[in-house]
Amino acid sequence: MPQPHLRTVVVLAAGEGKRMKSALPKVLHPLLGRTLLGHVLTAAAPLAADRTVVVVGHGAEQVRAHLTEIAPDATPVLQAQQLGTGHAVRIALEAVPEASGTVVVINGDVPLLRAETVAALVAAHEGEGAAATVLAAEVPDPTGLGRIVRDAAGRLEQIVEERDATPAQRALREINAGIYAFDAVRLRDALGKLSTDNDQGEEYLTDVFGLLVSAGEPVGVHVAADHVETLGCNDRVELAGLRRLLRDRTNEAWMRTGVTILDPDTTWIDVTATVERDAVIDQNTQLRGTTVVGEQAVVGPDVTLIDTVVGAAATVLRSHAVGAEVGPGASVGPYAYLRPAARLAEKSKVGTFVEVKNSEVGPGAKVPHLSYVGDATIGAKANIGAATIFVNYDGVNKHRTVVGEAAFIGCDTSLIAPVEVGAGAYVAAGSAISQDVPPGALGVTRAPQRSIEGWVARKRAGTVSAAAAERALAEGASAGGPVAREGEAIHGDAETVGRPSAAGDTATE
Ligand code: UD1
Ligand code: MG
Repeated sequence: MPQPHLRTVVVLAAGEGKRMKSALPKVLHPLLGRTLLGHVLTAAAPLAADRTVVVVGHGAEQVRAHLTEIAPDATPVLQAQQLGTGHAVRIALEAVPEASGTVVVINGDVPLLRAETVAALVAAHEGEGAAATVLAAEVPDPTGLGRIVRDAAGRLEQIVEERDATPAQRALREINAGIYAFDAVRLRDALGKLSTDNDQGEEYLTDVFGLLVSAGEPVGVHVAADHVETLGCNDRVELAGLRRLLRDRTNEAWMRTGVTILDPDTTWIDVTATVERDAVIDQNTQLRGTTVVGEQAVVGPDVTLIDTVVGAAATVLRSHAVGAEVGPGASVGPYAYLRPAARLAEKSKVGTFVEVKNSEVGPGAKVPHLSYVGDATIGAKANIGAATIFVNYDGVNKHRTVVGEAAFIGCDTSLIAPVEVGAGAYVAAGSAISQDVPPGALGVTRAPQRSIEGWVARKRAGTVSAAAAERALAEGASAGGPVAREGEAIHGDAETVGRPSAAGDTATE
């Protein structure tokens, strides 16, 4: 004998959502970190149901695949034809013949529903021993929704759909939220008696209430404290409205835990993200997915973080990060792009127009400007000069570069992987390094400079440059440095080219 299910959750998600005008089934549209369906399943999760059944139909394969990801324990049940909400629940219960006790039914398109509200509905229902209890709400605009019709004593008489309602019923502003608790046995019995005698020719779940009332069964109405929770989503305008409401709810909750949000209207935090106290979120910032922002970190303005962890007291300014880790006290941006597995250790710096992918930037190391760092390990306190490129891809394979502790890479350097620059080594600006540089050595591949005197006067006569040069030469100015005549090479020595002050001139802090 299978154990009886004392609590079963049924989520209705077979409808097409015609007004979304989308190739994506309505319940799979995303809303700040979860799909509509994901939000509903999260609200139902604390009920600890023995079984959760999701009725799928339109886009069934996509919905099933999504369920495998977000709720592998849920059972999808196919409703091949959408013959109404009553029909959908009937099919769901056929898949769980052992269900007894309470059946909670939730429309798949009410994403703002809170777990506390579902729990309160179920507690009221079970506490009163009702045959059925509906979640109701007083709304400013009930257009399109089913109305709660009460008798003179205030008891539920029936739920009537707007299209089947009398003008007097349409004037009612108390609506059916599409969330219910039922006694399994009496629900099954009533579902077997549903007719399709209504404007849409469908089996309405809502008719169960009228049937139970006629049979003298006790039914209840649980009124939601905040009608916003019961808002459904039928088109993309409503979806955008729900997104704003959820944004405000989420921001308010974070502010109450001690997070500063400078501009809540332009701060979009997924319900799956976390922000620790005394973090400051500046305007136009999105925190998405599993992002975590640590204590006292400053994020924004103009930042998008996806599945990214920002350590305590780090700063991230005008940047985009996906799957990255920013260590405590590290500094990112403005205008940085951190890609998956970019790991910035504590107090490191990734500055302006810098892209980092699958790389460790060591503690206190700096990549301040205009660089690409891919597949690299950069040691503690290393300094990567402006316009350094980690050349990681040979057209077929990716290779790693290792830069040792406190190494110093001059500007405009290519580090051609696989290659290693040892601890404390220097690389002269403008080098293309394809062989390992031993610790403490200077790596340099730069051709010596030569300056060909009088070249502009001869080859660019009549230009503003030629005129400026002529004036400067007349004043006796000289740039100094080695000078050659045309065709004559200067052989500078590597000690001079790479002397620390020369590299220092061109590397930047
Ligand atoms: C339903 C209620 C209405 C309530 C409103 C709240 C009925 C008859 N009416 O109306 O009283 O005010 O919700 O939003 O129940 N679905 C299926 N299979 C079907 C039909 C629908 O799975 O055959 C699913 C839909 O995907 C959706 C949910 O059931 O998630 C509700 O269906 P929908 O067509 O949106 O019902 P409403 O007209 O909004
Ligand atoms: Mg609806």
